[in-house]
Amino acid sequence: MAGTRLNGGIALVTGAASGIGKDVCFALAEAGVEAILLADLNLSTDLTRQECQKFASHSNFRALSVMVDVTDEASVDNMVQRAVSELGRIDYCVHSAGISGNSRTRTASLNIDAFDRSMRTNSRGTLLVLRAVSHAMSLQEPRLHTSTRSNMTRSLGRGSIVVLSSINGLISVPGMMPYTASKHATIGIAQTAAVDNFEHHIRVNIVCPSWTDTPMMQKTISNVPTLEQAIAKLCPLGRLAMPEEVSDAVAFLCSPAASFINGESLVIDAGFSLTGFRMGH
Ligand SMILES: NC(=O)c1ccc[n+]([C@@H]2O[C@H](COP(=O)([O-])OP(=O)(O)OC[C@H]3O[C@@H](n4cnc5c(N)ncnc54)[C@H](O)[C@@H]3O)[C@@H](O)[C@H]2O)c1
Repeated sequence: MAGTRLNGGIALVTGAASGIGKDVCFALAEAGVEAILLADLNLSTDLTRQECQKFASHSNFRALSVMVDVTDEASVDNMVQRAVSELGRIDYCVHSAGISGNSRTRTASLNIDAFDRSMRTNSRGTLLVLRAVSHAMSLQEPRLHTSTRSNMTRSLGRGSIVVLSSINGLISVPGMMPYTASKHATIGIAQTAAVDNFEHHIRVNIVCPSWTDTPMMQKTISNVPTLEQAIAKLCPLGRLAMPEEVSDAVAFLCSPAASFINGESLVIDAGFSLTGFRMGH
C-alpha cells in the first residue's frame, strides 16, 4: 500500500530491470529499506539502481546490481551469497523475474518447447530462488518491531518473501497452457515454502495480478491486437493495472503491517476474476 513503512531492512528483488520488479524497487526504497540488491538477466538494472535514489527515504540507502539467470542453480546461489556478503542479510525478497510464454496455442497443438521454457523460468526459477533465500534467511536473527500505537514489541521473524504469480495461477485461460501451468506451480511452490518455513518464522506470500502495464504486457498487446479492447471490456476498471498498483501491495506484504499474513495469494485484479471468464471462444 502507498504509505507502507519498512523502517530499514535489506531487500533482494529479482526481475528488477523491468516492469513490476522495477517498480517494486522504487516502492521499497520509498518505504524506507536501507539497501536493495537488484537482480536480473538484463543489465539495465543499473538504470533502476540510479532511479531508486530519487525515491529512497532511508538516510543510508544504497543499491547494488547483480546479473542472475533464475533458471540456473549456481547463478541464483551466487546472487544470494552476494546479498549476504555485501549487504549483511536479506529481510525482504521479492521474486518478480518471469516470462510470459504466451503461445496462444490450444492444448491439442501445444508446443512442448514453449511449455518447457515457461516451466523452467517461472516455476523452476521460483523454486531455486525460494530455496536459496530460505536457507540464507534461516541462518539470520529475527528482527523485532515495536508498535507506536500499543507500544508492544513483536518478532517479525527472519524474513519475508513475496512471489509474483498471476491471476493465471488461479484460473485457466484458453491458449495459455504454458504460462497458466507455470503460474499455478509458482503458487504451489511458494505455499509449500511458507509451510516449510514455519519453523524459521519466514513468511512467504504470493501476489496474483491481472493485466499490468509493463513491457511484458505491451509486447503481448502488440502480438494480440484485440487484447486491449478485450481488457477494456473484461476488467471492471476498464484498464490495465499500473505497476505501482501491484508493487504497493508487495511492499505491504513485506512490511510489519502484514506480520500475521503467511501463505496468502493476494488477487490484484479490480474484481475481474469474480465473474465468469469467456475470452477467445
Ligand atoms: N504484466 C502483467 O500483466 C503481469 C500480470 C500478472 C503477473 N505478472 C508477473 O509479474 C512478473 C513480472 O512481470 P513484468 O510484467 O514486470 O515483466 P517484464 O518483462 O517487464 O519484467 C520481467 C523481468 O524478468 C527478467 N527475467 C526474465 N527471465 C529471467 C531469468 N531467467 N533470470 C533473471 N531475470 C529474468 C527480465 O529480464 C525482465 O527484466 C512476472 O513473473 C510475470 O509473470 C505480470
